Amino acid sequence: MGQTARPRVFSGIQPTSGVTLGNYIGAIKNWVDFQGQKDNLFCLVDLHAITIKQDPAELRARTRELMAMLLACGLDPARSIVFLQSHVRAHTEAAWLLNCVTPIGWLQKMTQFKDKSVKQESVLTGLLTYPVLMAADILIYKANEVPVGEDQKQHVELTRNIAERFNGLFGELFVIPEPVIPKLGARIMGLDDPSTKMSKSSAHKPGHAIFLSDSADTILRAFKRAVTDSGGEIRFSDDPLKAGVNNLLTIYATITGKDRVNVEADFIGARGYGDLKLRVAETVIEALRPIRERYEALIKEPANLDANMRRGAEAAAAISEPIVRQMKEMMGLTPAQPSLSV
Ligand code: AMP
Ligand code: TRP
Repeated sequence: MGQTARPRVFSGIQPTSGVTLGNYIGAIKNWVDFQGQKDNLFCLVDLHAITIKQDPAELRARTRELMAMLLACGLDPARSIVFLQSHVRAHTEAAWLLNCVTPIGWLQKMTQFKDKSVKQESVLTGLLTYPVLMAADILIYKANEVPVGEDQKQHVELTRNIAERFNGLFGELFVIPEPVIPKLGARIMGLDDPSTKMSKSSAHKPGHAIFLSDSADTILRAFKRAVTDSGGEIRFSDDPLKAGVNNLLTIYATITGKDRVNVEADFIGARGYGDLKLRVAETVIEALRPIRERYEALIKEPANLDANMRRGAEAAAAISEPIVRQMKEMMGLTPAQPSLSV
């Protein structure tokens, strides 16, 4: 009693391919830091994954692997609700309801839709309405904060617009959520091309992304080959020509928790970019080693992972189902009466 309510946090990650260093620095690391301070929900968004064609057996395997990896990174089911989106039907139900208050023009303007749809032979309807499902994810928990990387900011802003529109049409129900974007590391770039975001898409070559499950050897090789520039100055910079070095320093800073000044100080006297790459690689390898070890142990116990997912889903449904019921009533849908027998 007398406690002030803790802000509620909601975020999600897709169970496609592995988890990249970009996912870790831009999102997961911050989720872990939120634990203990906030009321957290973290969702494996398998319904978002199927907006792009997936192999069913692969998707199922990747989902369990992602659960293991999130726990290995430090998400703790005792302090956060960690669950699978498709286990809680309130998400799909709310998404439909919100589809019916979202103008199609808002969706056609989304950068991610435009980027992804040009890469597809056949663009699925789900890819267009993807941000509506994401809005549903966030709104049915009345989340205050949504910690994501830079690429998801536009979707959270759309979520705010959808919430305001619903509240305006039917009455105050939804909390207007805030995107929480890290100051450093919100957009980790590809090591092979520092002008593109590090992404888990299989369209990229080896050496583009670091995956949290990569061996020390693979990580070292990728960093050694990282694209830099023809200069020699080791400092943070907005200059697109220095994007490679800036990216390496950003990775080093976020992993060590050091600020820019201390990071640059660490490299005074370094022997060129070769030295920089080696030290960043070593820092990443050491940080990921315990995560990989925990992952190896967790993935061997699928029953434990499944039980954690089920418990998470029960806790999530207990929060979101009453809110979806309220949405339906406010929109004029008729609730089923307690007894249908005459
Ligand atoms: P996704 O893998 O697309 O489901 O993304 C999960 C989370 O990781 C989201 O919050 C993204 O914004 C974040 N994220 C993905 N790639 C990067 C990146 N290269 N740099 C920083 N954050 C990222
Ligand atoms: N679209 C997000 C991504 O690809 C994942 C996501 C789905 C999400 N639902 C969410 C993130 C709700 C934050 C809140 O990264």
